[in-house]
Amino acid sequence: MSSGRNGTPKSGATPWWASAVVYQIYPRSFADSDGDGIGDLAGVESRLDHLVDLGVDVVWLSPVYRSPQDDAGYDISDYQDIDPVYGTLAGFDALLAAVHDRGLKMVMDLVVNHTSDEHPWFAESRSSRNDPKRDWYWWRPARPGMRPGDPGAEPTNWSSAFSGPAWTLDEETGDYYLHVFSRKQPDLNWENPEVRRAVYAMMRWWLDRGVDGFRMDVINMISKEPTLPDGIVASGPYGDGRPYYICGPRVHEFLQEMHREVVAGRDALLTVGEMPGVTVDQARLFTDPARAEVDMVFQFEHVRLDQGASKWDVRPFRLLDLKASFGRWQAGLADVGWNSLYWSNHDQPRVVSRLGDDGAHRVRAATMLGTVLHLHRGTPYVYQGEELGMTNAPFAGIDDFRDIESVNHYAVAVAAGEAPADVLPALRAMSRDNARTPMQWDDSPHAGFTAGTPWIAVNPNHTEVNAAAQRGDPGSVLAHYRRLIELRHAEPAVVCGDFTMLLPDDERVYAFTRRLGTVELLVLGNFSGAEAAADVPDAPSWSAADLVIGNYPAPDPAAPLVLRPWEARVYRRTTAR
Ligand code: NOJ
Repeated sequence: MSSGRNGTPKSGATPWWASAVVYQIYPRSFADSDGDGIGDLAGVESRLDHLVDLGVDVVWLSPVYRSPQDDAGYDISDYQDIDPVYGTLAGFDALLAAVHDRGLKMVMDLVVNHTSDEHPWFAESRSSRNDPKRDWYWWRPARPGMRPGDPGAEPTNWSSAFSGPAWTLDEETGDYYLHVFSRKQPDLNWENPEVRRAVYAMMRWWLDRGVDGFRMDVINMISKEPTLPDGIVASGPYGDGRPYYICGPRVHEFLQEMHREVVAGRDALLTVGEMPGVTVDQARLFTDPARAEVDMVFQFEHVRLDQGASKWDVRPFRLLDLKASFGRWQAGLADVGWNSLYWSNHDQPRVVSRLGDDGAHRVRAATMLGTVLHLHRGTPYVYQGEELGMTNAPFAGIDDFRDIESVNHYAVAVAAGEAPADVLPALRAMSRDNARTPMQWDDSPHAGFTAGTPWIAVNPNHTEVNAAAQRGDPGSVLAHYRRLIELRHAEPAVVCGDFTMLLPDDERVYAFTRRLGTVELLVLGNFSGAEAAADVPDAPSWSAADLVIGNYPAPDPAAPLVLRPWEARVYRRTTAR
């Protein structure tokens, strides 16, 4: 998109995805059609009308490819097949047709920073030092002067994202392979043009099959600094390799090549790059349409604000930090570039528990959070269950967790001498499993998710928090999300308006305006369970303006702007130019 001052399109049409809302399905936990306790493609198909009712435009399907499921499908052993637990390619085609029949699009998760260690490419690569595919992965000998397997003999000191070292020794050939994630997720070597060609061919195969784009997993990690230097050691045994694999030297070149080889010349696709650690300036480069890399980034700054050195170092959330972060991203991408807007996904705890109130004020907190997010500039993502105000789960002990990241962290911490009772609070707050408990369709024993035994326990609050209970209720979180999505579709100022942050130092009220031509919107959100005055410029005129969305009964237009606990309001007015 070409955009002018204040983000209004300068020439050409606004791209379709700027006014779209994406709904993320985590298939494992969405709907199980065959009673094995694991969600599947036929289950997704059976629930598509929920998405139509909500009004979203795009489905992002987390990985359903053939996989040993070491990292819940983000470890792929065949990019061109469906894992039997989810169904078949024919079932996939049926789902895609059903999605398209309803006027929705579907983007696939694309996980090409790494494969599974059970992918045939890796099996060949590990088979011998002379194998033609040896160079498809990052193989290195032990550190000079050390024997393979000696403590500290790994080629670099990098830690893996899932605890332990980022290198594993292959006993047969005596070399180590790199895995930024689990040992069953070896990193592909994108320096090798054959790897890139194979990935692009696979992507074209999916597009030819009819999918509408890709959500690209950790795509800013595909270019590594080829000399693989050691990282700085802050604490513990390992160094931080991120400076050498996040936004590495050839990442833009690779993404431009991918765009040329795969995307160029095809219409109406969506490409979104998941990019941990990406900065605003880098994001501008990645998403500047003139550079032809990706349409939008999926960045992490705002979901790290309540974390210290690691995600398990849980810190209090401060609203001012959120305003500063979102404000910088809005300003930094105002003229060029595009961002995704999200609170939740399969890697994050539930936002209403994290930043809101999952007790007495759950509905108001969930709707306020949704309102503030969706009224920013960018493309909103709704993660399954967020539209119901689903909460974190009451995990009792380690046996209730399933996620490799959580389970590994616990094992390492306890082995290092920490008491389980000291490790569990951070897991309860931050574990990815909070997002992965089954979708709560109704109040039946397994929430309508499965007729069998779910692979991870259903949240007991499904008796109260569920889609069936909310469907006809205009005061529900579901109804509010429906209105937010309608508003984005109907109001160009939500899509293209400029953004001005108000009250940057107010610790309770989040306030901003959006403006497009003569239309101005004021967005207010109370991030507290107490009343809070919204001391914005021109308050009396705003109180009298049209309230286009709110989560309380409409206030008296003559009353001062005082927000009730967790209240959200969006006002609209037109001004003379
Ligand atoms: C990001 C994905 O969202 C996450 O679930 C996964 O574990 C890692 N990338 C590795 O693929």
